[in-house]
Amino acid sequence: MADTLTITDNRTGKTYEIPVEHDTIRAMDLRQIKVKDDDFGLMTYDPGYTNTASCKSSITYIDGDKGILEYRGYPIEQLAEKSSFIEVAYLLLNGELPTKSQLDHWDNDIDHHTVIHENIKRQMESFRYDAHPMGMMISTLGALSTFYPEAKNVHCAENRALQIVRLIAKVPTIAAFTFRHSQGHPYIYPSNPLSYTANFLNMMFKMPGNEYTLHPALVRALDVLFTLHADHEQNCSASVMRAVGSSDADPFSALAGAAAALYGPLHGGANEAVLKMLTEIGDVKNVASYVASCKNGERRLMGFGHRVYKNYDPRARIIKKCAEEVFEVTGRNPLLDIALELEKIALEDEYFVKRRLYPNVDFYSGLIYQAMGLPVAMFPVMFAIPRTVGWLAQWNEMIQDKDQRIQRPRQIFLGERNREFVPMSER
Ligand code: CMC
Repeated sequence: MADTLTITDNRTGKTYEIPVEHDTIRAMDLRQIKVKDDDFGLMTYDPGYTNTASCKSSITYIDGDKGILEYRGYPIEQLAEKSSFIEVAYLLLNGELPTKSQLDHWDNDIDHHTVIHENIKRQMESFRYDAHPMGMMISTLGALSTFYPEAKNVHCAENRALQIVRLIAKVPTIAAFTFRHSQGHPYIYPSNPLSYTANFLNMMFKMPGNEYTLHPALVRALDVLFTLHADHEQNCSASVMRAVGSSDADPFSALAGAAAALYGPLHGGANEAVLKMLTEIGDVKNVASYVASCKNGERRLMGFGHRVYKNYDPRARIIKKCAEEVFEVTGRNPLLDIALELEKIALEDEYFVKRRLYPNVDFYSGLIYQAMGLPVAMFPVMFAIPRTVGWLAQWNEMIQDKDQRIQRPRQIFLGERNREFVPMSER
């Protein structure tokens, strides 16, 4: 059996044999298929890249039909239960779980870079009082590139490693400062003896003059949430990270682009949209009519559906359990009943069953963040913190991949051509 694909072009009757590798054909192999010699050659048309592999990767594996998610071969369920976020970050970036001394070293490295330059802090202070935290986050990430001009040297492995640590260390600080700004509260500087997640919560909620007691269950729940959000292979924002990075832009600029992609309600903004939706529904008795309006196309049921998962989102299952543990500490989120009813109705409804729409990671994460005392505007920021690791792992892999070139898709041009300029007086 040959690993090839035979294509007959019925326009010309010619036959072509194209190699198949990893169940994939190379799009460029189609270019030889022409009617006339001076034709451009055959292309594929794939808006939204629903069936186009843009890279080879060894980081994250997803089987959407079976509901499988693995980082570097380790099932997400095991990592969520047995690992810490910072350990998962090491795994995603380096391909192996760290030894004790590698983890200590990694943790130390990150601790060394948690502080941000005072000028960055001052720049953040200049945002309006009601600035959206995600807008602050995106622009601050871009601004960071001006503080580390050496980050442009993207082909030096040592330099890349330094910028990766810087970003993973500083992102929680920036995120917490966006929250403090929106509250009008003084910024709290990082506290390195605390764990990555505990330090973040401390920067978010500690008030000067008061001790802030971290609840271990909440620290652990946030750590699990961060692990679940750390990477998700070639999603919209990771693709942007790779696309911006493919022009050899520095990782701070590329990360700002990735964060901007995450901001949209169809991607990382969905957890914010879920909370707005649950608040708008307001009462369990309104759920059925809301679901009906989703079915007749008036709106989408936020937190439902996924481009890849067509069975269930394994992260949603872990998060639902996590929510119960958090609510034991914080008290039950009153919107939970609406969410449960929504899930129940939607899972039984033919419209959702037929289209294989299931709750995704964002359906419950917002309820947890709200119970922890976060306003909805912070939710996409909470997604961006752990996803920074995934973006950087994807970027680092892309830079070292010899197959990769600057991203530059083709188009099918359907517009006018060869028009004669019309003077203003004749239009
Ligand atoms: N509510 C109602 N109908 C839906 C929904 C939804 N949430 N999602 C998809 N559909 C319908 C859609 O109208 C279409 O129906 P039809 O075939 O009759 O036209 C069909 O299902 C297929 O939808 P699609 O838009 O072609 O699917 P997609 O793979 O392009 O979109 C999605 C995936 C996640 C953008 C979409 O399901 C959606 O908009 N969900 C709500 C937003 C959301 O929760 N996003 C978070 C994703 S998970 C976090 C992350 O990784 O970003």
